[in-house]
Amino acid sequence: MVFDVSFLNRDIISLRDFSREEIDYVLEIAEAMESIAKTGSDMLKGKILATLFFEPSTRTRLSFEVAMQRLGGSTIGFAEAEIASVKKGENLADTVRVVQNYADVIALRHPLEGAARLAAEFADVPVINAGSGAEEHPTQALLDLYTIRKEKNRIDGLNVALVGDLRYGRTVHSLAYALSMYNVKLFLVSPESLRMREEVLRSIKDKIDVEERASVEEIVPEVDVLYVTRIQRERFPDPAEYAKVKGSYKINLEVLKNAKEDLIILHPLPRVDEISAEVDNTPYAKYFQQVWNGIVVRMALLALILGVVK
Ligand code: NCD
Repeated sequence: MVFDVSFLNRDIISLRDFSREEIDYVLEIAEAMESIAKTGSDMLKGKILATLFFEPSTRTRLSFEVAMQRLGGSTIGFAEAEIASVKKGENLADTVRVVQNYADVIALRHPLEGAARLAAEFADVPVINAGSGAEEHPTQALLDLYTIRKEKNRIDGLNVALVGDLRYGRTVHSLAYALSMYNVKLFLVSPESLRMREEVLRSIKDKIDVEERASVEEIVPEVDVLYVTRIQRERFPDPAEYAKVKGSYKINLEVLKNAKEDLIILHPLPRVDEISAEVDNTPYAKYFQQVWNGIVVRMALLALILGVVK
């Protein structure tokens, strides 16, 4: 490593805690994991990952588990808080103080903002934020960046649009923080009530060129990366507010008719109705490739944090 930062035992809570050099280094290690992800290895033999998921997940939890297993380690955990002791009233601090005895690293998903940072304060083992309420989802943003770099061979110089629920979508918060470290132009496309969180805007606006827009059609011809998100129904305090914005954006072939030939479309998934199935078979669609990329990025993080890659 050419810079003097160690990932050993490091908590991964927010991409605001990372420098661009550190992010690039994780992406480089992820690339080196591509072949190991297919063949498997015993780099983390004897190490245990605990996945504590207090909120629903398919990809994030499974890909953390696959990442650990491909490196020869093993996993424990729960995917439903209903069956864990939290149901009996145990608080998060106690839960992590118990689990740190069982595992070498913890991946935590929790509905409350700040949950991952709190857990990291109480745990002696490193904590990886696998989604903290509407706040952040740093490992998703790393795999999004990895996908952009893999598909476009660069991140600098690109026009990127984040579309959909920029208020409650945690992946776009982490991704915006990360992209602000690169030389990109960012379009933020959302309904008025779901505009990008003020704190994120404030942090990125003086670093990169940011434009807020309401229509996707008008920005499609200009963008290299279209990052589409689901309206986060479960985070709306009022169902009537959700009803107003439901189905605001539908990316279909008509919307894409003036797109650049080499546009890529990303989505953290799950998708509801914001990208039509007809887009899936176009060369633009890279959202299912992102799933694979999530494995290698998480392998890189586990190997770095547990010190088998320096
Ligand atoms: C996202 C999440 O959980 O924030 N999903 C994921 O981790 N791939 C996006 C979402 O739920 O819409």
